[in-house]
Amino acid sequence: MNMTVLTGKHILLGVTGSIAAYKAADLASKLTQAGAQVDVILTAAAEKFVTPLTFQSVTGRRAFTDADLWGGEAHILHVGLGHSTDLLVIAPCTADTMAKLAHGLADNLLTVTALAATCPLVIAPAMDGGMFDAPATQANLATLVARGAHIVGPAEGHLASGLLGKGRMLEPAEVLGHIRVALGKAGGKLAGRKIIVTAGGTQEPLDPVRVLTNHSSGKQGYALAQAAIDLGADVCLISTPTALSAPVGVRLVPVRTAEEMKAAVLAEAVDADALIMAAAVADFRPKRVAADKMKKRDGIPQIELEAAPDILKAVAGQTERPSVVVGFAAESRDLLDNASEKLKSKKLDLIVANDISAVDAGFGVETNRVTLLFADGRKESLPLMGKGEVAEVILQTVTSLLE
Ligand code: C5P
Repeated sequence: MNMTVLTGKHILLGVTGSIAAYKAADLASKLTQAGAQVDVILTAAAEKFVTPLTFQSVTGRRAFTDADLWGGEAHILHVGLGHSTDLLVIAPCTADTMAKLAHGLADNLLTVTALAATCPLVIAPAMDGGMFDAPATQANLATLVARGAHIVGPAEGHLASGLLGKGRMLEPAEVLGHIRVALGKAGGKLAGRKIIVTAGGTQEPLDPVRVLTNHSSGKQGYALAQAAIDLGADVCLISTPTALSAPVGVRLVPVRTAEEMKAAVLAEAVDADALIMAAAVADFRPKRVAADKMKKRDGIPQIELEAAPDILKAVAGQTERPSVVVGFAAESRDLLDNASEKLKSKKLDLIVANDISAVDAGFGVETNRVTLLFADGRKESLPLMGKGEVAEVILQTVTSLLE
């Protein structure tokens, strides 16, 4: 997985006394695998559910407990942990710890550290039976939100008591997504910028059950959306149906046809800084859509096609267009010639040329080999890379074009 926003980051993970504490071990593991340096602090109640050894085993670093608060290095530790940290995440966070944070109490290593910390704070609440909805908890939550904390979850569902309700800690993968959003917003070069990414292959209906579509998986587009989130952008992902889940933090606009995608792009483009058209949009669509399912007994239908709207050309014709417009060229021959022709005819700032005849690049696969062609004639060929890495290079390029 592409995770460079976390590489080398120092993340402090606070674990409090909830049955969801076991999920924190998975979160610690995911953060470590993503290249972060993870220090864990367990409260006394957390130690009833999980042990420091659980976390030491996945992070390769020692985990801290209240015993350390009363040890010889305590004065260095509580301020030190908070100050050298890029982000503090408390997952799971009980109603009790939320209350302490809201009121500035500092009676254990975690709350002392949180009070001293100046980094972004992500809180994943977990609590049972109505405690989340209690007016006291809601007031504490409002206080924390007003101070800039990112409250993620809780989710609705089965609670440890057997009750159904709001109180489940978000799954570790989702918490990780929120951590990426918080890190991006805190210092990313695209913070405050709106980026539109389109993804997937459009579906052009023939009748109520059949469509004309293509092999696009949406992977490159979704990776671009994640890379933009990692840089702190407000991301609008306009996507056709895919098998992927949208990165945490994006605003997903679902579409199917080229016509729907065009309408969504034009509406969103008005106040966007950049548009990245990674979607494989139909060039042709059935001229007529049958109202009823076409039947075999009626013989083989002759399907007449017409041009689908060219979205990038429509954007090029607008007066209010994003400062940076990026297109893709997926070609099976004469890649660079075709790409530079499109760069000009679609008035692009950058086109990403993609040789789909190679087995390790283009549709469906995890890797891509692309050449970037710029409006000023510059050309940059990138080696075979994961789609996540390609996305990062494209977003860095978009960032410098915006600057
Ligand atoms: O012309 P071609 O389809 O090869 O151009 C590819 C680029 O143009 C891609 O960025 C694609 O998203 C965009 N496109 C479009 N509208 C179409 C077809 C493609 O905006 N109807």
